[in-house]
Amino acid sequence: MTIKQALLEAKNLLKHVSDIPQKEASILLSYAIGLTQAELITKENYEFDEKTFFELVARRAEFEPVEYITKKANFYSLEFYVSPNCLIPRPETEILVEKVLNQTVNKKEVTIADICSGSGAIVVTLAKYLPNATFFASDISAEALEIAKHNAAKHNVSEKIKFYTDDLAQNLPPCDIIISNPPYIADSYKLPNPVKYEPSLALLGGVDGSDLLKRLIIQFHKHSAKTLFCEFGYDQREIVQNFCQNLSFKSLDFYQDYAGLTRGFIIKK
Ligand SMILES: C[S@@+](CC[C@H](N)C(=O)[O-])C[C@H]1O[C@@H](n2cnc3c(N)ncnc32)[C@H](O)[C@@H]1O
Repeated sequence: MTIKQALLEAKNLLKHVSDIPQKEASILLSYAIGLTQAELITKENYEFDEKTFFELVARRAEFEPVEYITKKANFYSLEFYVSPNCLIPRPETEILVEKVLNQTVNKKEVTIADICSGSGAIVVTLAKYLPNATFFASDISAEALEIAKHNAAKHNVSEKIKFYTDDLAQNLPPCDIIISNPPYIADSYKLPNPVKYEPSLALLGGVDGSDLLKRLIIQFHKHSAKTLFCEFGYDQREIVQNFCQNLSFKSLDFYQDYAGLTRGFIIKK
């Protein structure tokens, strides 16, 4: 079969799972035969053995995320190794990273903790962009932490980050800033098909999804860190606002994603 024929057939097989079936077919073929996506275009009449490629397409057609099939995800223009032991980093989390970068880029020395670090997308990206900062990264999942360590090594920032397992910020040493994208989806929420492939430990946060958010806010309240940057669900603003009411923080601000939905908060004390 030629590259052109295979891409056309795969595109049709992926229409029911993807808004971008052509692009996903191209990503999977590139991964299967080791050519870049640009090379696929210039070599579209080349013949190849299509068996492996269509096995990958079949997995995607069953809703498995492309990122788990190819073992890589893009975040903030960097490539991260991912497996089903960690969440696939999401574009909205880039906004959280952007918020921290905006407030710290001119600071001489700062220590930042990424709580619930998962693949390490947040902490590794910050370590790449903040040469004067040092970092802690923790997760309750030892498997996820291994992935984060792998990604730190891949991007040459291992020596800047101390990794350890923890239940949220329970054992967090002194630091200046806490950043977190904790699990915040309500337990009863009906997850879309591809998301079912991701670890529920990374997604679910109790009856209304706010259990870990609340515990983290309390831990931050008792900790020496002065600022907490945190992502949450678009409908959790009121929960956080009410919860913080009696904690007498200096400020509580919310930020929006590109669709205008409130997707996170910044607390200062
Ligand atoms: C939503 S994922 C975020 C991963 C990564 N920071 C990102 O933004 O892509 C949440 C992470 O929290 C971890 N987690 C769940 N419960 C935890 C807890 N009690 N303490 C620490 N980490 C926890 C999960 O293992 C998962 O890696």
